[in-house]
Amino acid sequence: MLAYARALLTGSEQGRTAYLAADLRDPGLILDAAELRGVLDFHRPIALFLVAVLHFLTGADQPRALVRRLLDGLPSGSYLVVSHATGDQAPPGVGAIVETYATTAAPLVLRGLADVCRFFDGTDVLDPGVVRLPLWKPDTPPTDPETV
Ligand SMILES: C[S@@+](CC[C@H](N)C(=O)[O-])C[C@H]1O[C@@H](n2cnc3c(N)ncnc32)[C@H](O)[C@@H]1O
Repeated sequence: MLAYARALLTGSEQGRTAYLAADLRDPGLILDAAELRGVLDFHRPIALFLVAVLHFLTGADQPRALVRRLLDGLPSGSYLVVSHATGDQAPPGVGAIVETYATTAAPLVLRGLADVCRFFDGTDVLDPGVVRLPLWKPDTPPTDPETV
């Protein structure tokens, strides 16, 4: 996958791109990586996107400490974006999904709203706060009652 990525998207006029194969559980390696330092300007705020990945870290991985370590390594004014599978308001069938993941190398760890909010401890949370994904600044208001 990384070979394809490097071949297909090497950068553009708008910005440079780099790929790094690393484990989120090793934030020091990520922050110090030459690939990262080569494309990101650490004199300006940086956006850290942890999208659909933190739910693959167990409590033993201490995910909050990992997020904190990554944020501490970024310039002041940087941004954190998180999306996370939650057990709150779980739709029918989520149990089967968790069971399936439990048989893989990356078990799915559902966390409730309060736990997900704690990833943002020490940050200024932007409106509308930590909400279900379709409710975060939608282009058009969601109409599906399952969503709202
Ligand atoms: C559901 S995908 C989301 C990918 C991407 N963020 C997106 O939104 O399209 C989850 C990704 O997390 C990666 N992942 C799981 N555990 C990880 C870990 N400990 N360190 C780094 N990546 C991990 C998986 O390899 C997979 O690519």
